[in-house]
Amino acid sequence: MRILLVSGSTRAASTNSAALRAMHEHRPAGIDTVWYEDVAGLASLPAFNPDHEDELPPAVAILRAAIDAADAVLFCTPEYAGSLPGSFKNLLDWTVRGGNLYGKPVAYVSVAAPGRGAGAEANLRTVLGYVGATLIADACARVFVVREAVGSDGRVTDRPTRDQLVAALATFAEAAAAVTAPSQ
Ligand SMILES: Cc1cc2nc3c(=O)[nH]c(=O)nc-3n(C[C@H](O)[C@H](O)[C@H](O)COP(=O)(O)O)c2cc1C
Repeated sequence: MRILLVSGSTRAASTNSAALRAMHEHRPAGIDTVWYEDVAGLASLPAFNPDHEDELPPAVAILRAAIDAADAVLFCTPEYAGSLPGSFKNLLDWTVRGGNLYGKPVAYVSVAAPGRGAGAEANLRTVLGYVGATLIADACARVFVVREAVGSDGRVTDRPTRDQLVAALATFAEAAAAVTAPSQ
């Protein structure tokens, strides 16, 4: 089970990126994770332009290859202005023509404070539905990552928070494996 971890934030001390980094660095045995920021990263992508479909920008080709190589994708995004950050929607737009998320098991983890982030979640569900991803609703989780829990190195310093994030990854991996397992 290889899971691609995609953050919707470009901020260096991002709580969303730190959450995914914690999952990646503390992944349980048997779960292979790829942290998209290690591969290229959200900020590497140019603004979406349908004219560039025939000659893809290298960063877009890398993104599509990373999704294609993954069995499942886990997202973690902040909410901006009641919706998704433009740079993250841009990433999702680049996958539409490629069909890369079609049928792919996906879920998201929200690290927003309790009562926040519902707009981002709703919009992410809309886009994932549009691209035909297989959203595993039961594996979508909420783990509040307070800014103070992210160190200057971009890592989650709080052990209980880290453990909850790793548990969310394990739940998603199990659910995604069940979805992708060949039927008997
Ligand atoms: C431009 C901008 C717009 C934001 N809009 C919202 C919003 O609509 N709702 C909300 O709950 N938080 C909003 N926030 C707060 C962010 O979601 C919050 O700072 C989050 O921690 C950012 O994620 P990050 O730490 O991964 O960068 C906004 C922040 C910025 C910079």
